[in-house]
Amino acid sequence: LRTGTGTAHGKSILIGEHSVVYGAPAIAFPLHDLEVRVTLTVSDKPVIKSAVYNGPVATAPNRLRPPLTALREAAKWFELDASKISLEIDSPIPVERGLGSSAAVSTAIVRAAAALSGKELTELERFNLVQHAERVAHGTSSGLDAHAVAALTPLLFRAGVPKPLRTKTEVTVVIADTGTPGKTSMAVGGVRAMRENDTQLIDSLIAQLAELTAAAETALGAGELAELGHVLSQAHRVLHELGVTSGELNRLVYAAEKAGALGAKMTGGGLGGCVIALAHDQADATRIAAALAAAGATHTWVSTLAATE
Ligand code: PMV
Repeated sequence: LRTGTGTAHGKSILIGEHSVVYGAPAIAFPLHDLEVRVTLTVSDKPVIKSAVYNGPVATAPNRLRPPLTALREAAKWFELDASKISLEIDSPIPVERGLGSSAAVSTAIVRAAAALSGKELTELERFNLVQHAERVAHGTSSGLDAHAVAALTPLLFRAGVPKPLRTKTEVTVVIADTGTPGKTSMAVGGVRAMRENDTQLIDSLIAQLAELTAAAETALGAGELAELGHVLSQAHRVLHELGVTSGELNRLVYAAEKAGALGAKMTGGGLGGCVIALAHDQADATRIAAALAAAGATHTWVSTLAATE
C-alpha cells in the first residue's frame, strides 16, 4: 500500500484585518493546535473520506473542488497519477470562519503528495501549489493564509510579503466561534462604501488600526502580554466603528474580557466568524473558553505558541 501523509494548521488574524486592504500591515497568528492531517493512498478505486463527504472522487460535491485542485496540481508537479489517489481528510477547522481551513487542507494535501512521491518540496513550491487551490476557493487570494497555515511563528504581512515575527514568551489564545459564517466580502464592501461617504473618518480609523498593529508587533517581540491584550481590545473597538462586528462578536469579546482575558477582538473579515482572546496561560485559557461557551460560542479552541527564542 503506497501512502503519503501531510499536515498543516489553522491560522487567525491577530490584528490588522481590514486595514491591510488599505496597505497597512497585518499579523497572522498560526494555530498549531488546530491540526489538519491528510493521507493519500494509491488506489484503483479512488475515494474521499472526510467530514463533509464519503464516496468516490468522481462524484465529490463542488465544495471539495479546492482540495481536489490542490491534489491535481500537486500530482502534476510530482508526476503522480491524480486519477488513482484516494484522500482521507481529517480537519478540526470549521469552514468560512477566517481560520484558514481551505489553505490548511490544501497544504496538507501538497505535503502528502510530496511524501507519496518521495520528492523534496520547497517552501516556494508548496506556496505556489496551494495558491492554485486558494484561487479556486476564493477567487483572488492575498497569500496570507497559504503562508500562515505552514508557519512556525506569527507573520507580519506588508504588501503581501510575510516576515516572521519573534515572540519573547509563550502566547496562549482562545478562539471562539459565533457559529455564523464570516462575510468577508460583504464586510470589505461595507468599509469601502463608508469610506466613499466619509473618507476622513474611515482613513483615521484605518490609521488607528495600523498604529495598533505596530504596537502589537512591539509587544509580541518584548513579551509584554498585558500590553498586547490591551491593544487587541482597542482594535476590536475600532473594528466596531468600522461596522464589521456583530452583536454575537461583541457579546463574545465582552464575555472573554469579563472572564479575565488580557484582551479580545473579532478575527478575520467579521460580520460573523470568530473572536480571538489572549490568555495569561493555559489554565486561564480553559476558564476563558468555558465562559465563551456559556456566552453562546458554538465551539472554542485553545492554542499555544512557543516563544521563538
Ligand atoms: O476572514 P479572513 O481570514 O479571510 O480575513 C479577511 C481579512 C480582510 O482584511 C478583512 C480582507 C483581506 O482580504 O485582507
